[in-house]
Amino acid sequence: MFSPQGPSLGELCVQALSSVERGYDLLAPKFDHTPFRTPESILDGTAHALSELGPFRDGLDVCCGTGAGMLVLRPLCQGLITGVDFSAGMLAQARSAHPDASWMRADARALPFAEDFDLAVTFGALGHFLPTERPAVFEGVYRALRPSGLFAFPIGAPPPLTSVAHWAALGFDLAMRVRNAVWRPPFVMYYRSSPLSAVRDDLTAAGFTVTVAALTALGRRSDGSPRCGLILARKPADAHPPATPAASDLA
Ligand SMILES: C[S@@+](CC[C@H](N)C(=O)[O-])C[C@H]1O[C@@H](n2cnc3c(N)ncnc32)[C@H](O)[C@@H]1O
Repeated sequence: MFSPQGPSLGELCVQALSSVERGYDLLAPKFDHTPFRTPESILDGTAHALSELGPFRDGLDVCCGTGAGMLVLRPLCQGLITGVDFSAGMLAQARSAHPDASWMRADARALPFAEDFDLAVTFGALGHFLPTERPAVFEGVYRALRPSGLFAFPIGAPPPLTSVAHWAALGFDLAMRVRNAVWRPPFVMYYRSSPLSAVRDDLTAAGFTVTVAALTALGRRSDGSPRCGLILARKPADAHPPATPAASDLA
């Protein structure tokens, strides 16, 4: 399916009946030959928009997969670039494609970093988190950033109600809800569960100051509105350092 080097329909079905982590472990060797890998146009558009806000020191790609986000981080970051993902299979592919970066296996809902980065990005992964899980992801990224650090990621404008894309996303989400109602383990992936307003509210609640820039390089709708925006979530310069246990708590 997708291309001669991509997964077969049978392989995709087995992957979709697995957990998210196991599904990506299985898909990893062929992932870059699927449309699920973030396309270069989105990576280039993001890198171009962020180049006006950098340079940055250390960069983090959350849910890095096979490492697509490194193409954004590498030219923008003068220090270390790191990818984090919970799929060992995806990380193995990323490691061999980008040996200059560091890689860590961790769940994005419990990121193990504290003020280690100046720029964090994420691509193509928000749909893997239920709305109730999103705050933990954003709080973890907030903790991972140094004061004034930036969390940036592209977000697509909802397609018009009359478009094929709208009905395809609706149909996909419905199929996943049925699959998750009747099959364990769940495979959480919903295209319509992360609307801009909810994402913005959750980022603000985590402590970020949020703006949205138009990614006009990715085209406009017939009504002139941009197809894609870039969320720019800034950690305040005067953010308090993460709480460390008091000496008396350790006794
Ligand atoms: C669609 S892929 C995107 C990969 C890459 N960012 C890209 O744009 O090509 C989603 C990635 O999110 C990872 N992922 C999903 N849920 C995760 C979680 N809770 N913690 C860490 N990684 C997660 C998957 O393992 C997978 O590599």
